Amino acid sequence: MKVKINNTDLLLLAGDITQQEVEAIVNAANSSLMGGGGVDGAIHRAGGPEILKQCKEIIKKINFLPTGEAVITTGGNLKAKYVIHTVGPIYKHGKNNEAALLRNAYRNSLKLAKEHGLKTIAFPSISTGAYRFPLEKAAKIALKTIIDFIKNENHFAEIRMVLFGEKVFSVYREILGSMEI
Ligand code: APR
Repeated sequence: MKVKINNTDLLLLAGDITQQEVEAIVNAANSSLMGGGGVDGAIHRAGGPEILKQCKEIIKKINFLPTGEAVITTGGNLKAKYVIHTVGPIYKHGKNNEAALLRNAYRNSLKLAKEHGLKTIAFPSISTGAYRFPLEKAAKIALKTIIDFIKNENHFAEIRMVLFGEKVFSVYREILGSMEI
C-alpha cells in the first residue's frame, strides 16, 4: 500500500526489514544496544559484527540509550548503508508515558536520518513485539507521527513501514486507509 504526501511516498509492506533497499533501516533496540531477539537480532545477524562494534563505541560514550532516543551506526553487510537504533517503550498500562515515548522513537529516528541527509528509511513496528505495546494503538501513533513529520519537514523521498507478517500488515493498512491525510 502506498500514499503520497507532499514529496514523500509512504509505503506499507509485509516483509523482512533486513532485506530493504533503503539508505537506513530502523532497529527496535534496547537501551544497552547489545542486541537481542526480534528485529534487533535479525538486524545484527544480517548486518554482521561491525554494527555491534559501533554500538559498543556509542555505549562507551553515552552509557545507555534512553527510551525514545536514537543513534546511528553503519549498516554493515546490510543493503542499507545505516542502521538507526532507537528504543521503544515497554508497555505497562499506558500510564507511563508510553504513547509519547513511542512518538519520540519514530520522530527522533526521522530527525537523525534527516540530519544525515538520508532520503529513504524503513521502520519496523516498534515496541509491538517483546515490548508488548498494543498493535492498533502503536500503529496509530507510528503512522500519525510519520505523517506529521512528512507534512512539517517534507524531506524524505520514501518512508517504509516494514511489517512482519500479514496480520500486522493488515492492521497498519486498515488504520492508514481510515486516516484523514
Ligand atoms: N523485519 C521486520 N519486522 C520484524 C522482524 C524483521 N526481520 N523481526 C521481527 N519483527 C517485528 C515483530 O514481529 C514486531 O512486530 O518487529 C516488531 C517489533 O518486535 P520486537 O523485535 O520484539 O521489538 P520490540 O517489541 O520493540 O522489543 C524490543 O526486543 O529484541 C529485543 O533487544 C530488543 O529488548 C529489545 C526488545
